[in-house]
Amino acid sequence: MIKKMGLEKDIDSILLDQDTIMERVKELALRLAEDYKGKNPIFVCVLKGSINFFSDLTREFKDYCEFDFLSVSSYGSGMKNSGRVDITKDLDMSITGRHVIIVEDIMDSGNTLNQLTALLRERKPESLKLITLLDKPERRECPITPDYYGFVIPDKFVVGYGLDYAGTYRNLPYIGVLKREVYE
Ligand code: PRP
Repeated sequence: MIKKMGLEKDIDSILLDQDTIMERVKELALRLAEDYKGKNPIFVCVLKGSINFFSDLTREFKDYCEFDFLSVSSYGSGMKNSGRVDITKDLDMSITGRHVIIVEDIMDSGNTLNQLTALLRERKPESLKLITLLDKPERRECPITPDYYGFVIPDKFVVGYGLDYAGTYRNLPYIGVLKREVYE
């Protein structure tokens, strides 16, 4: 039962609670540690939504790795799905010849990751894989699937654990379904 205080009163229901998220994050980190043994991967955090997942995932990855961060242009929920994606804050590091793991919070239409992976592949990484905490395959418009995912979720408006609505709700510790009246 959530306490209906502050921003939590805007949440209709909890889709994934903290324990469920962390249990899955640990499983994913173990799997990555097996797959990337001796590879010293670069974890790339796609700001801002993936910050919490990135932070928890990498802390559970008990092997050598490096971090980098990037931002992509957002055109708002309506246009993003069909719009061109530009890198607005680029990586600091060269990824040429490196094993790269792109960390996302959610894959929806797939447009962001489809275009981002094309841009990053031009830099000739040794390998480039995608991990997303949430996958909404029902909404997919591009021929892309994550290499690793946490949860397949229904087409509901979810916020929390990094995911926002109009910049808010990222700090909720769980993933909840936003009440319709908040965004309609
Ligand atoms: C979200 C999410 C992905 C993208 C997924 O980012 O973090 O980058 O949308 O949608 P798609 O599969 O339809 O392209 P958003 O633009 O909300 O920015 P944020 O990460 O800063 O919240």
